[in-house]
Amino acid sequence: MANERVISIFQGLLEKTKELIEEKQITHEEYREFCLWFDELGRTGEIPLFMDVFFETHVLRGMYSGLPGTEPSLLGPYYIPNEPGLQAPYTLPQRQDEKGEVLFFTGNVKDIDGNPLQKADVYMWQADADGEYSHFADGIPEYNLRGKMKTDEDGRFTVKTVIPAPYQIPTGGPTGKFLTYIDSHPYRPAHLHFIIDVPGHDKLITQVFFEGDPWLETDVADGVRDSLITKLEKFDDHTKGSITFELRPARVAAAKK
Ligand code: DHB
Ligand code: FE
Repeated sequence: MANERVISIFQGLLEKTKELIEEKQITHEEYREFCLWFDELGRTGEIPLFMDVFFETHVLRGMYSGLPGTEPSLLGPYYIPNEPGLQAPYTLPQRQDEKGEVLFFTGNVKDIDGNPLQKADVYMWQADADGEYSHFADGIPEYNLRGKMKTDEDGRFTVKTVIPAPYQIPTGGPTGKFLTYIDSHPYRPAHLHFIIDVPGHDKLITQVFFEGDPWLETDVADGVRDSLITKLEKFDDHTKGSITFELRPARVAAAKK
């Protein structure tokens, strides 16, 4: 069955691509080289990575800019579902000798009028102190630094974890090759990932960044939003951080469509 939405978007894509081919006078040789590179992108499984690095941020900006509430950021390619449900007081699953500075992170989940949202489902995942994600890097236990929590009666959760390192997207494959062609570095600033889900509200997919991170300004995936940067407080043997998440009522997101 014909899908009008697909037809309309594909026509737009063809039109803009034709214009670009003419404007840049793309040669047949360049075209064939692109096809080989694109094929390699698929064969190495890097299509989700490439798409999320270059396009996801624009989809989010288009959908959410100007709306009230916490800004979404990239889901990225490293979420895996069915993370373990944790019991309070929360600690993200980690290795006995997990490297890195201990971080106590607090999230305050509210609606856009400032009312706390209790029993919100909070899904969290992050890279470790080497910048590696479990399930995607070898030798890390499944679901390491991933878990599901709930907010308490004040709409709050606190979790013990470690500070993640800035993440370097893989440089050995076609995405890395492409970054060299465009003279870009492969880094994302260190970040924590969250999905926050409360009935009656727009599901929030976002990330939290840390003030002072050297890659905030030039994130290769352009996922940083000023409102998602938190200042970490250093103590003798641990660090604290916090942020407030404001969830839009479901109808605000629906009204814009
Ligand atoms: C991307 C997002 C991430 O959160 C990450 O850790 C790596 C890559 C991305 O959008 O490509
Ligand atoms: Fe990430």
